[in-house]
Amino acid sequence: MVPSMSLILTNRVGQPESYTLQVFEKTGGYQSVKKLFSLQPNQVIDEVKNSGLRGRGGAGFSAGLKWSFVPQDTGKPVYLCVNADESEPGTFKDRLLLEDDPHQLIEGIIIACYAIRSHTAYIYIRGEFDLPCQRIRSAVAEAYAKGYLGKNIFKSGYDLDVTIHRGAGAYICGEETALLESLEGKKGQPRIKPPFPAVVGLFGSPTVINNVETLSALPFIINHGAAAYRRFGTEKSPGTKLFSVSGHVNKPGVLEKPLGYPLKDLIEKDCGGVLGGKRLKAVVPGGSSVPVLNAQDVETVKLDYESLMQHGSMLGSGGVIVLHEGVDMLWALRNLSRFYAHESCGQCTPCREGSGWVDKILVRFLREGGTSADIELLKDISNNMMGKTICVLADALAMPVLSYLKKFPEDFAAHFRGKTAQAQMHVL
Ligand SMILES: Cc1cc2nc3c(=O)[nH]c(=O)nc-3n(C[C@H](O)[C@H](O)[C@H](O)COP(=O)(O)O)c2cc1C
Ligand code: SF4
Repeated sequence: MVPSMSLILTNRVGQPESYTLQVFEKTGGYQSVKKLFSLQPNQVIDEVKNSGLRGRGGAGFSAGLKWSFVPQDTGKPVYLCVNADESEPGTFKDRLLLEDDPHQLIEGIIIACYAIRSHTAYIYIRGEFDLPCQRIRSAVAEAYAKGYLGKNIFKSGYDLDVTIHRGAGAYICGEETALLESLEGKKGQPRIKPPFPAVVGLFGSPTVINNVETLSALPFIINHGAAAYRRFGTEKSPGTKLFSVSGHVNKPGVLEKPLGYPLKDLIEKDCGGVLGGKRLKAVVPGGSSVPVLNAQDVETVKLDYESLMQHGSMLGSGGVIVLHEGVDMLWALRNLSRFYAHESCGQCTPCREGSGWVDKILVRFLREGGTSADIELLKDISNNMMGKTICVLADALAMPVLSYLKKFPEDFAAHFRGKTAQAQMHVL
């Protein structure tokens, strides 16, 4: 039976001691695991495929399909890596799940590991996450003590070990193959794909990497079935999604909404509208890497994979950054370029050099004023960064650059030479 609640992931959020095993069990926690062991691993994969659950780390790849790529005949162990690195600017939703409902994540890990026939999971957690790390550590310890992890879990004959690994503060280690390198004790740099991690991953073994939010949705799917999950969201984007809303809204925070929810309602109804009653100027809907939307887009766009794509952007990680009319979009873009130039791992020339050039041009634009030739140069550099590198960090800067130039040309024109009065207001 489908419960009458409207939410899947955040039902325990805000409840006293929601992070403890006692509260988790009292509120239906670990129920799906009992059902899990009556199913064959392939049946679990099929159920998750049928649910339409797509990865919530940013790329939106079908979770069940990814699991089905794991070969079972290599003679090597299979690993699950939980991506809890959450470093995308504007994104802070995994943090909430780790802090307020760590056992839900562990339940999801058990489901995923059983489905891919893995007996070892690693949780790679952002180094700066202190409280989330404490909470997941004590939840793992509680689960071991109760026999929910370790040998013969839930007396099923199935063994599972979970190890927590803290990152050291590099954004690039959230990219799945850089995460694997870092976990192996090396410098966190992305690997060339193929081979994909599902085939050659951690220590050369088949490995699935999934985001915290993706895994946290699994207990609901196994408890209530794929059809129940599909009652939320749209046909092509089923389920719910967490949106971390920041910037110029009256009530920022993390909200769980069915996919397909109007972005305008999220800002106006759920977040109390634009700060100070000002006019909305722009919204970055899916974390800093995705193309920006203007106020006109916000009138019609829905928060799902398809609608955002139709409006030239992406759902990404669900990090919604709201900017009001007072923001200079050149300044906002430079904020991004500084971040990406700093975080580029430096392996690929278009990314290492391109992100630095974009940053330098934008700084010059702000300090001394720019020209239309600078605009053309920014477009040219961005086009030469996209699709030409080992990972998509280069695209994560190039796409915003092109979209900011396209949607807010007047903010750049205001900084053309001869109009430097505004530019001088910026102290860099
Ligand atoms: C530069 C970069 C940073 C990323 N950071 C994260 C991150 O912090 N957390 C995350 O889950 N995925 C991140 N990703 C996406 C991962 O590479 C990967 O797609 C994801 O962990 C897969 O899990 P999912 O299928 O459940 O979404 C990042 C990707 C790139 C290119
Ligand atoms: S695109 Fe950038 S971050 Fe990604 S591997 Fe190449 S240099 Fe490193």
